[in-house]
Amino acid sequence: MDVPLNDEDLVTILNAIERRTGIATRPDQRDAARVTIRRAMRRVNISRPSELVHAFQYNAAVYQEIVNEVTIGETYFFREPKQFEFIRNHIISDLRSREGASAPMRAWSAACASGEEAYSLAIVCDLMKQPVNILATDVAPDAVAAARKATYRDWSFRGEAMTHVKPYLIRDGEVLRLKDSIKQKVRFQLLNLYDDVYPSLESGTQNLDLVMCRNVLIYFGPRTVTEVGQRLFRCLRPGGWLITASGDPSLDHIGGFAVTATDYGTFYQRPLEGKASDSVNSGVELRRNAKPSPATAPRDTPVSVSSEHRENHSVRRRGERDGSAVRSSGRGARVTDTDQLPAAKEEPKTPETPEACVVSIQAASRSDSALALDKCTAAIARHPLSNELHFLKARLLMEADRLSEASQTAQKALFLDRSAVMVHFLFGSIELQRGQLDSAHRHFRNARQLCDRYRPGDVVPFTDNETAAELTAALDSQLKQLRAQSG
Ligand SMILES: C[S@@+](CC[C@H](N)C(=O)[O-])C[C@H]1O[C@@H](n2cnc3c(N)ncnc32)[C@H](O)[C@@H]1O
Repeated sequence: MDVPLNDEDLVTILNAIERRTGIATRPDQRDAARVTIRRAMRRVNISRPSELVHAFQYNAAVYQEIVNEVTIGETYFFREPKQFEFIRNHIISDLRSREGASAPMRAWSAACASGEEAYSLAIVCDLMKQPVNILATDVAPDAVAAARKATYRDWSFRGEAMTHVKPYLIRDGEVLRLKDSIKQKVRFQLLNLYDDVYPSLESGTQNLDLVMCRNVLIYFGPRTVTEVGQRLFRCLRPGGWLITASGDPSLDHIGGFAVTATDYGTFYQRPLEGKASDSVNSGVELRRNAKPSPATAPRDTPVSVSSEHRENHSVRRRGERDGSAVRSSGRGARVTDTDQLPAAKEEPKTPETPEACVVSIQAASRSDSALALDKCTAAIARHPLSNELHFLKARLLMEADRLSEASQTAQKALFLDRSAVMVHFLFGSIELQRGQLDSAHRHFRNARQLCDRYRPGDVVPFTDNETAAELTAALDSQLKQLRAQSG
């Protein structure tokens, strides 16, 4: 279906999306957004922009499909592991000191995507024998459905995640299924953070001990960030905590919170009644307000990467979104926006760029991994020099358990660019699964060294929003495990 979309129509559609979801698109992200919107229009079989705007407003099914298309659901288990350590060492012990060990913690993973964050929290609580009720919500119906299913692929557990999660997984063919004992601790529902529907008794968002709202505020404009932050503050009981991700915009300006800023994220505590807001988190000794917020951090500052690397990838700081206000997909692949990779018989007049192919393949991989692999092979035939396509193919092959082909494909990706952090990381993961420990160690070590070329807050290419600091932590942990394994 041909979907013409001029600038004016595109802006009208993007405004309609922002008015319902808070997801804002900057002018420099419009080209990418256009591709996503065109794909969304095909998905709902609507070719006229005005009709789409109307249906988005008044037709629930169309609204849901569009939201599924335009949201970015990238996540994984124990993302930013130090934040989970903070929960274990400070938040749970803080709660226990006030309420006793048997009082259930009430927590909310707001914008949970496919559930990994909420389940990671459930695992932390299980390990600490801390009773917990976790609410997990997202605006995207597909994300909530996937989260309820709780089946994941190996790549969802990179870094140190597998160490924590392994005892709670059952292998089921190609996928790993989370055990019921963990699933039962979390209940999922749809909730749009842009709507003024929380705190409320009905949604279970009142009197919470912990809210995790990570990697979603980056998609909102400043006003929405403030409004969401204020509502989340009211969801907390006195003494309750709000955690954002290390790259999220700051909520320091919102009155009432005691703020603890660290290199690995900002922690906001609603003061206990009668306590001054800067002295509540007793026992927590951390640098306060140590990190400039991404909202105020200088942009476009030169980054210390090799010129070779700079040519291949544009480096962005977390908090600056890439081309996609929109799109989601599998671990480790950069998510930009683009059009659907067409079937052979509907070859487009203008050949698609490799980046466009990547997004299309990622979209396919969410529902049909075999189709995604076929598309990737076809795209490589058209763009044999794209290391990102080879990277993606290697990842798909690994997920399909075709490890020796995955290894060969990763080798090709490396041949095209030896300085790509994520290719080394993926290669290491493949080799680890093949039992090739020396080779795995070498690639993890290379990836770790390449991380040093970035500043901690830089987003690493071929990831969605993962910073050099996050990858460094994951790689350090992986290397530590390997060293322990090899004695
Ligand atoms: C990048 S994921 C973050 C997942 C997880 N919190 C993490 O940090 O790994 C962002 C999620 O925010 C969700 N989202 C975007 N806009 C939202 C809104 N208005 N209300 C609720 N969720 C939203 C998306 O659907 C997506 O699943």
